[in-house]
Amino acid sequence: METSSHDILMIGGGGAGLRAAIAIAEAMPGADIAMVSKVYPMRSHTVSAEGGAAGVAGDDDTIDEQCYDTVSGSDWLGDQDAIEYFCNEIPKELLRLEHWGCPWSRQPDGRVAVRPFGGMKKMRTWFAADKTGFHMLHTLFQTSLKYTSILRYDEHFVTRLLTDDGAVRGVVAIELRTGRIRAIMAKAVIICTGGLGRIFPFTTNANICTGDGMALAYRAGAPLKDMEMVQYHPTGLPFTGILITEAARAEGGWLLNKDNYRFLQDYDLGKPTPTPVLRSMELGPRDRVSQAIFGEFEKGRAFHGPYGDYVHLDLRHLGEHKIETRLPMVRELCLKYENIDPVREPIPVRPVQHYMMGGVHTDINGATPLKGLYAAGEAACVSINGANRLGSNSLGELLVFGARAGRHAVEYIGNGAPNGNLSHLLAQAADEEHRLETDYLKKSGGTERIATLREEMQKTMERGCGIYRERASLVESANKLIELKERFANILIDDHSRTFNTNLTQALELGFMLDVAETIVHSALNREESRGAHQRRDFPKRDDQRFLCHSLASRSAEGPPRIEYLPVVITRWPPGERIYGRDH
Ligand code: FUM
Repeated sequence: METSSHDILMIGGGGAGLRAAIAIAEAMPGADIAMVSKVYPMRSHTVSAEGGAAGVAGDDDTIDEQCYDTVSGSDWLGDQDAIEYFCNEIPKELLRLEHWGCPWSRQPDGRVAVRPFGGMKKMRTWFAADKTGFHMLHTLFQTSLKYTSILRYDEHFVTRLLTDDGAVRGVVAIELRTGRIRAIMAKAVIICTGGLGRIFPFTTNANICTGDGMALAYRAGAPLKDMEMVQYHPTGLPFTGILITEAARAEGGWLLNKDNYRFLQDYDLGKPTPTPVLRSMELGPRDRVSQAIFGEFEKGRAFHGPYGDYVHLDLRHLGEHKIETRLPMVRELCLKYENIDPVREPIPVRPVQHYMMGGVHTDINGATPLKGLYAAGEAACVSINGANRLGSNSLGELLVFGARAGRHAVEYIGNGAPNGNLSHLLAQAADEEHRLETDYLKKSGGTERIATLREEMQKTMERGCGIYRERASLVESANKLIELKERFANILIDDHSRTFNTNLTQALELGFMLDVAETIVHSALNREESRGAHQRRDFPKRDDQRFLCHSLASRSAEGPPRIEYLPVVITRWPPGERIYGRDH
């Protein structure tokens, strides 16, 4: 097996991975940095982020106000030390990106433009039209090219973390073009693999978002935090799940039910206003707006389509000029994927899985409990998002905490990271190669189709762990996942070739997803309260006495994940009521 060795290795080449790599290159000019990504970096899911990144920009706003919005938006499950650090750092990060070439949209006088976003009381979301992720990723990628110390392993699929004496010391990866298996050693590893949306049937996430990094960390012994906190975005296209950005509502779009009625006024989110204003009801937080749309489904006030119920997002009153200049991608997506022009017709939308508040448990430095293992971005739970992330905080998070994790990894190796026993590591890598050969590449006789198992998993996750949950449906999902895992052992691999074997990668991804799905279900089952995105019909109230704490799901040798709890960090904002649409 080919082996190589580096100082610090990123798994994932999206926004968090690139930002971490740049921070390392700056902090340690002689560092040998590696980035392993299953896709070419510009195809990472960051590219599809649309609406923007929040950071205090004007004199009418303050860091404290952004902290409060984020804390209350998180339903008090966010760690307040991390939130304060985030809000202080993000304006600097966004400005740094400007200096690196990010084309932020401007006001007529040349200052950076900001737009309102859901759950925020001030306009503070920086944007580049509705292609913010594309421009940010481009900027980061091009900046990373300045550093010859960053070596990329593009289109390499990581299957396992290598550990020695409790410390993470590298990975095993398959080069997708050749099928060659490599052991890539490193003194520290940073997981930046993004989300897991493909566990659900309707998601804004790309096909690549299969929770790989979360599963790798979990299998190596790191706990996953707050996995019950799954975010639904209110406005995805009904069939494809493609995101129609919240910016469409920030620019003045309305949500209408089948009676052409702006129904959000019935859900304690404010009163209808003719033009967009801060705190307008269309800009409620995502958990509440998604729950309201679901309420319309249940009341029979939605449209019925082949892919389930939906409501309308109406942009017609904004006019063609505004749509073309502020929301060009919304128009393009609607034309391409729904064959409708939002200038003339309302857009069918439904809540779809969008983001994972939970992830690999880290401290404020991005460090996991496993020595030498860090995580940042959506794959991590640091935690600034708690039970509900505010729209436009994820792009900021991957910058602020990608950079911080990178700098702390430098510190870790500077302080003398354990060397690791090379023969132990190579033996593990050889075991992994053997597993990949016998369980997948040379396997014969399986009968279970990947697509069938995946679809059954997605359906049970939406039924059990969708916008509303309850004990009976969660238990049903838990049992279904046990059945699916048993059937997974009998999976059919009918492509044994070595070149871009998507049959193999989809099987490996499904294995990751089944592990991570179990942590979602069991964390949700154990949290007997309703908070943010976790709404239990059988426990409809928030219960700060029992659950003002993070869940930690750890792998157990036998049976379901072990669930433990960790107190939330409360510094300046004691738990209170979340109020939207009126003064508070
Ligand atoms: O609606 C959006 O543009 C999504 C933004 C986000 O998730 O931060």
